[in-house]
Amino acid sequence: MLASSCQLFIPFKNHMDKMLIVGGVPLRGTIPINGAKNAALPLMALGLLSDQPLVLDNVPTLADLTTMELLLSEIGSVIKRVGKKVAIYTPSIKSFEAPYDIVRKMRASILVLGPLLARCGRAHVSLPGGCAIGARPVNFHIDGLRALGATIEIENGYICANVPGGKLTGAEYTFPNISVTGAENMILAASLARGETCLKNVAIEPEIGDLLDCLQAMGVQVEGKGTPTVRIQGTESLSGAFHKVMPDRIEAGTYIAAAIITCGEVELENINISLLPTFVDALRNAGATIEPLENDKIYVSMSGKIGPLSIETSPFPGLATDLQAQLMALLSVSSGESVIVENIFENRFMHVCELARMGAQISVSGNRAHVTGVEHLSGTSVMATDLRASTSLVIAGLAARGETIVSRLYHIDRGYESIEKKLSECGAIIKRVREGEAHTASGTNKKIAG
Ligand code: EPZ
Repeated sequence: MLASSCQLFIPFKNHMDKMLIVGGVPLRGTIPINGAKNAALPLMALGLLSDQPLVLDNVPTLADLTTMELLLSEIGSVIKRVGKKVAIYTPSIKSFEAPYDIVRKMRASILVLGPLLARCGRAHVSLPGGCAIGARPVNFHIDGLRALGATIEIENGYICANVPGGKLTGAEYTFPNISVTGAENMILAASLARGETCLKNVAIEPEIGDLLDCLQAMGVQVEGKGTPTVRIQGTESLSGAFHKVMPDRIEAGTYIAAAIITCGEVELENINISLLPTFVDALRNAGATIEPLENDKIYVSMSGKIGPLSIETSPFPGLATDLQAQLMALLSVSSGESVIVENIFENRFMHVCELARMGAQISVSGNRAHVTGVEHLSGTSVMATDLRASTSLVIAGLAARGETIVSRLYHIDRGYESIEKKLSECGAIIKRVREGEAHTASGTNKKIAG
């Protein structure tokens, strides 16, 4: 029924692409919001738990999801994508390994650890290591799975895990701190464990609720969705299911920031305002108009400069760390002094130096950034350092005077589908330049403008 994994769609070949933006055009139009990358990733890993097909709808075309497709197919899944639908069928597990070469590309590969242990009692998963935004240990994942009966050793950079007797056993585990993928790994593992698992101090990010909804559709009994205590009754086998991936609240927040910084007026489609509570409240307080419309739409408009804000990142329902960089770009042209405190990751200010090259005035002390709003930013060449940092540079470029060239675009392709198309359809002057294509600043300027 399903095509073989060799038919995987690999759309991301041009690692040296650049984005060219001529700033100063207010965004006007409608922007469709995709399914959430960070919901789709654990949902795809869930496909490993069942020998029946799991069909996910509203799955965006993103490099990270292609990486997950590749990893699952190495493990034994047969995957077929048609448009936004991805079918995952895992009749049996062929390999217990998540190799370094895949995990180093995408940390969320760790999400196969729980499913592998639950389905076949064995896993060999490369340690993800640190990344551009912090050390990002996975000790909660490991300790939690040990609580379910797994024996885990770290050897040669790999998590080598076994389940004596082959089947995990339900248990209680309290997360020392909020961890999103930590919770997802435990929830996935607990679904095929013997008996009940009670997880405490669980992240309540909406993506976890989406995973629990899909698990319920596959026959798992779940209590406590959306609360910090989740109980899961492990089951012998999971049925197949059809599930629509929830909207991407971070993509939506990114376009909200883009609309506001350009003093634009946009509608976002397929997104619910309740997914962005703190972000929306803060921006409203700073002068933006953000209103829910019927049928999962949001209206955003701004005239004049955004006001300054004092804000800190925290787990849901607080301000998402994944929107911190975009907010910083926006506040760099606010009418006053802002403070942004980053509480989730210890090194998530890599965009500051690049924004400073565009004229932003930002000083950083520890996890606190002080942003003095400037009259205007000016375009120049900047480099993306991670996924969200890269969109902060695009947002800054949309407002800057002159031309901005954002390089290392592969970061954006991990999490934003067709960003240049969505923005240009709202009037932005923005263009992706493929590797090898001529793109001198003045030449491109003429080409874009023409
Ligand atoms: C998820 O990462 C997201 N990734 C991240 O999105 C997001 O920034 C992050 O949650 C926070 O919201 C996916 O969902 C795939 P954590 P995750 O475990 O799960 C510490 C993006 O841009 N910690 O919630 O890896 C950790 O170091 C990405 O789309 C431990 O100490 O993050 C951090 O300080 C980037 N030990 C904090 O907890 C652990 O075992 C929260 O991390 C696990 C985490």
